[in-house]
Amino acid sequence: MTAPNQTAGGVEANANANANANANANANANAAAPAVSERPLTHFRTLPLSIEVNGKIVGPTEVPVGLMMIDYLHEYLHLTGSRLGCGQGICHACVVIVDKPDGTSEEVRTCITGANFFHGKSIRTIEGHAKRNEAGEVVETSPIQQKFLEHFSFQCGYCTPGFVNAATVLIERLKRQPIARGEVESTITEALNAHICRCTGYVRYYEAVKEVVLTTPGLVREAA
Ligand code: FES
Ligand code: FES
Repeated sequence: MTAPNQTAGGVEANANANANANANANANANAAAPAVSERPLTHFRTLPLSIEVNGKIVGPTEVPVGLMMIDYLHEYLHLTGSRLGCGQGICHACVVIVDKPDGTSEEVRTCITGANFFHGKSIRTIEGHAKRNEAGEVVETSPIQQKFLEHFSFQCGYCTPGFVNAATVLIERLKRQPIARGEVESTITEALNAHICRCTGYVRYYEAVKEVVLTTPGLVREAA
């Protein structure tokens, strides 16, 4: 058995030995550890985007190529009313209205359409339907929004922005091209058919749109 080292010199020697051992251990550990490498930065190619949204010019802003419009609306403009549902172009919850130079309007799905597609275009989102006062407060809903409320057309409301936009595009089309009374039901079905409501609120949506179509002057041709 080795006698403990009682001298001051012996204690110092032991301390040095321990320090050397620790240093060697650390050196070995460092040698075994993988080298720390910086993650490469991800570089996006960008393109300028200028767009009119709900009557206001936005941009030009540099946005990454491939950025979907729904993400541009949410993350750049903080317009979160457009809903991301399926993200695959199926449910139509995410549509916005594009106002075309010829005065017509159409729905475009923003989950599968890049933001750059909208460069130079004029769009309306769900935030653009109601009238607001100078403080930004809603003072009057659009006719479609109002009838959806009166008919309790929605439950969770996730699909509602898409339905509002689809029905609005339909009403605007009927103002330009009135239909016969006998075509009302089939025309509404055709216009709303692509929109999925997971709460099965279809009937009340249809009833509300039908009421707007039948009570708005000029949308339905009287029989000859
Ligand atoms: S979220 Fe765009 S179609 Fe479903
Ligand atoms: S009201 Fe819930 S998805 Fe349509």
